[in-house]
Amino acid sequence: MNKVDHSFTIGNVKFNNTVLTASGTYGFGLEFAKIIDVSRLGGIATKGLSLEPKKGNPGERIYETPAGMLNSIGLENPGVDSFKKDYLPEAAKLGTKIIANISGSSLEEYGLMAESLESEKDVAALEVNISCPNVKAGGMAFGTDLKMVEKVTEIVKKNTTKPVIIKLSPNVTNIVDFAQAAQYSGADAVSLINTLMGMAIDINKRKPVLGNVMGGLSGPAVKPVALRMVYQVSQKAKIPVIGMGGISNPRDAIEFLLAGANAIMLGTINFREPQMPLDIIEGIEKYCLDNGFNSVQDLVGLAWKEEKHVKTNRCT
Ligand SMILES: Cc1cc2nc3c(=O)[nH]c(=O)nc-3n(C[C@H](O)[C@H](O)[C@H](O)COP(=O)(O)O)c2cc1C
Repeated sequence: MNKVDHSFTIGNVKFNNTVLTASGTYGFGLEFAKIIDVSRLGGIATKGLSLEPKKGNPGERIYETPAGMLNSIGLENPGVDSFKKDYLPEAAKLGTKIIANISGSSLEEYGLMAESLESEKDVAALEVNISCPNVKAGGMAFGTDLKMVEKVTEIVKKNTTKPVIIKLSPNVTNIVDFAQAAQYSGADAVSLINTLMGMAIDINKRKPVLGNVMGGLSGPAVKPVALRMVYQVSQKAKIPVIGMGGISNPRDAIEFLLAGANAIMLGTINFREPQMPLDIIEGIEKYCLDNGFNSVQDLVGLAWKEEKHVKTNRCT
């Protein structure tokens, strides 16, 4: 039994732990459940779901980089109907909250995805991936256009009563504007960051390595960028912030909490050290006990909150 309160809430949903796993790095949790006790996690964000099944991108999809990885999976997934029928019933038995990560290639698709999951009682919340190309607008990602972020948020909110988490793209000039656009349009929380666009070239073939040419960079290489963005967004946001990007050990996780994240998600580290989410939960517990905090939420934003505020927020 934990001596520290690890819970946090989004909308009307209470999560038992601030440590969750990030979309696309944990499937639907079923494989990892054979290795670790996933019921100790605050939740699992599913692989990004689309209206129809997707095969993903051809050619090389993953490339290891110094301190990180590039991926261009292309949202391979079984589609929302198969998710509901074939995966959700099993995932619901894992004893942790399931967050459905949804994507769309048009505004209408985002609305239909939200509607399709509305009656699923085992889906605790929706996380909306806006780093997807808007096919009708020539393939520009929804998440890099402020107006589109507002419209996606509005249409998803209109079609669901579940808490809506908008997952922000870091591939923008000022991420705070995007967080605020999501918040003003009704988002219940924001999560950040999705991957940073990057690429690699095979010097022998003299061609890009990835089949899709460009891919998303994740892992320790992106951590300082992600931490900076969480620090900026959380000072302006009036809704919970979920931080992610390169978190690989308890110290990284605590940095994100101090930067202002109410919860964190772990992605790339799951491929290398699948037990790390539990090590991080224990590390956060120890840090709180050693420093006299009895709730993880008391750590949130201490890196920027004024000293006066720090003292009143401490529960010693
Ligand atoms: C292989 C892979 C697949 C991913 N798929 C998705 C996805 O389907 N939807 C999504 O919103 N984010 C996806 N992401 C982004 C992660 O959820 C996370 O935002 C990002 O990797 C940064 O965290 P990390 O550095 O801890 O991995 C994916 C990341 C990786 C590495």
